[in-house]
Amino acid sequence: MQVIILKDSDDVANGAAQRIAELLAKKPNAVLGLATGSTPIALYQRLIAMYRAGEVSFRDAVTFNLDEYLGIAPDNRQSYRSFMNEQLFKHIDIDLANTYLPECSQENNPRRVGAAYERRIADAGGIDLQILGIGANGHIGFNEPGSSLGSRTRVKTLTERTVIDNSRMFDAKEFQPRLAITMGIATILEARHILLLAMGEHKATAVHKMTEGPVTAMCPASALQMHRNTALILDEAAASKLEELDYYRWTHLQNEPLVSQYGHFHDL
Ligand code: PGA
Repeated sequence: MQVIILKDSDDVANGAAQRIAELLAKKPNAVLGLATGSTPIALYQRLIAMYRAGEVSFRDAVTFNLDEYLGIAPDNRQSYRSFMNEQLFKHIDIDLANTYLPECSQENNPRRVGAAYERRIADAGGIDLQILGIGANGHIGFNEPGSSLGSRTRVKTLTERTVIDNSRMFDAKEFQPRLAITMGIATILEARHILLLAMGEHKATAVHKMTEGPVTAMCPASALQMHRNTALILDEAAASKLEELDYYRWTHLQNEPLVSQYGHFHDL
């Protein structure tokens, strides 16, 4: 894993947005894996600003989101479809027909959605760059601790911790789903490039475990240690519990000349 430590959350959002713009400049029909939650909001705002400034276009891009709640309709304001429309899609030039989430309508069997979603990703040529956040419990997507490292897109039950963490988004009387359909860990690991963003001290323990702890289903993000092309972009607070901070900073400095000469996506 490449660990990049930047000053604050604005720098993290900028760094991630630059990479996405670089990818789309190189491959306009790139397949992006997208995430919801608090983490990517500043990134999406940055991308919208860059789009308005003519610095990036999503016209031919295809997107696959990590997860979607089960039991609420896409037009419910709490669905991840609504989140993506509001936070990103309606502000950029993407064709909505090229934006996918693992949605399950009421008449469909949720257990069938996963395999269909996987086929759709494969038909699109696979994900070029997957954006991830990390839960305070180490989850990626809704792959909660204990998720199989070989898991594929499927129905998952959220942990109490995740339900509590996400309750800030729901009004008291609003239905908050306990089930979701999420890409599996093996699905995520098939992305050609992965960019995980983490900001804030409340993520520092999970970041430490993911990066420097053992690979274990109890910290699903630790599976990224097995991926050959993962970069973590962290702010100082999220990086504060890492033991090898000096080494990561040193490595980043050494790599900069190569990156400026050849870019991040020389294999695409
Ligand atoms: P957050 O969630 O971005 O809202 O902190 C991240 C996650 O749960 O993956």
